[in-house]
Amino acid sequence: MSGRRFGEHFLWGAATAAAQVEGAAHESGKTDSIWDHFARTPGNIAGGDTPERAVDHYHRMPEDVALMRRLGLRSYRFSVSWARVKPDDAAPNPAGLDFYSRLVDELLEAEILPWLTLYHWDMPQAVEDTGGWANRDTARRFLEYAELVHDHLGDRVTHWTTFNEPLCSSLIAYAAGEHAPGRTEPRAALAALHHQHLAHGLAVASLRERGAQQLGITLNLTNAVPDDPSDPADVDAARRIDALWNRAFLEPLLLGRYPEDFLSDVAEHRFDELVRDGDLGLIAQPIDFLGVNHYHDDNVSGRPLPPGTPPGLRPTDKPGASPFVGSEHVTFPPRDLPRTAMGWEVNPDGLRALLVRLGREYPTLPPLYVTENGSAYDDAVSADGAVHDADRVAYLRAHVDAVAAAIADGADVRGYFAWSLLDNFEWAWGYAKRFGIVRVDYDTMERTVKDSGLAFAELIRASS
Ligand code: FCB
Repeated sequence: MSGRRFGEHFLWGAATAAAQVEGAAHESGKTDSIWDHFARTPGNIAGGDTPERAVDHYHRMPEDVALMRRLGLRSYRFSVSWARVKPDDAAPNPAGLDFYSRLVDELLEAEILPWLTLYHWDMPQAVEDTGGWANRDTARRFLEYAELVHDHLGDRVTHWTTFNEPLCSSLIAYAAGEHAPGRTEPRAALAALHHQHLAHGLAVASLRERGAQQLGITLNLTNAVPDDPSDPADVDAARRIDALWNRAFLEPLLLGRYPEDFLSDVAEHRFDELVRDGDLGLIAQPIDFLGVNHYHDDNVSGRPLPPGTPPGLRPTDKPGASPFVGSEHVTFPPRDLPRTAMGWEVNPDGLRALLVRLGREYPTLPPLYVTENGSAYDDAVSADGAVHDADRVAYLRAHVDAVAAAIADGADVRGYFAWSLLDNFEWAWGYAKRFGIVRVDYDTMERTVKDSGLAFAELIRASS
């Protein structure tokens, strides 16, 4: 695996998110986020886990930054917790702002570029109590929060991401009910989607005016592959998933319009009434980069499911798909490919194809960064104390090769962030799924660099 293909300016990093790593959920002024609240209802999170302590990054931050430095990371992608810096979305919390200020200083000191995400799913519960993302006014509240963070960190942070995977924080959170706040209201989910776009546009416009250098958003994009390309039902189901999961995000952001087929697919929910004059112009602010998160493709069929289809293959089990896909279903994954501990297919060529396709389909596409890619496996600690996670090493290498292949095919990819720096709170899966290139012992909080972390460090070294 040679990193030279990437050039010395390629940005190698690792990513985390506040609710997944920080812990200190009710310390120094922080109040409930929707994930703290959601985790209290039995059955929402596997094993009854909560983000209360997470992996204690709030207290171990300097040690974690030292670890990043040892790995040779050039950038660290983290998110700010809205409920920490503006508890209950009320008065600013100096202690919360200070935590991020110290983090940024520590990173800069270690020559690691801070890559800041404003929204990685953890809205203050107090905002959800007023309707959350289904309420248009939440876009304005988000803007105020974004400006507060920029006022405190804008002198040192150059790279700003508004949202991480708005698909998850709209459709999965408000329609499928699998993520906080756990609502199953299709129209609220569509409202959440539009209002997050709006919040993105408002924040980009304002932060640009305040001098932010690099502004963008991260989307989780997929290749929706018809299971049987000769079956019109499968082809249409794939079109529908592509519209709902990819183009309903890409087109308003990049082209200032919603796709026609998406509008007719969701017409029964009166989506068009949510979009006011001027909204689309505001949403399509020029951006400086697009973050792409990709883990696997989706193999899609529109054929009725055979009786006895196991859980995981029913339409209602598809995060973010129900209730918008009718009888179509996404199969996860029926193709003859290896799978990770999440059941996700290992298909690096999907990442290459996606990155290349984006450049071909959107002529005004800004530079791309792979802001998340990685794999969960059931790691074992060996007698020597090491974690020989050969599967994750292979996944990492194959996907980095896929990025190189995409660049060779013309994709303008400028960086790659491994998900994740640390094992962490994997949302509805709790602590059951480990994505880290660094292991965390959840009893002692001890960090151990896995073989995948060593392999990543070696790759970064080889590329400079
Ligand atoms: C992405 C999320 C990230 C993490 C990975 C596995 O959808 O952005 O927080 O949970 O999946």
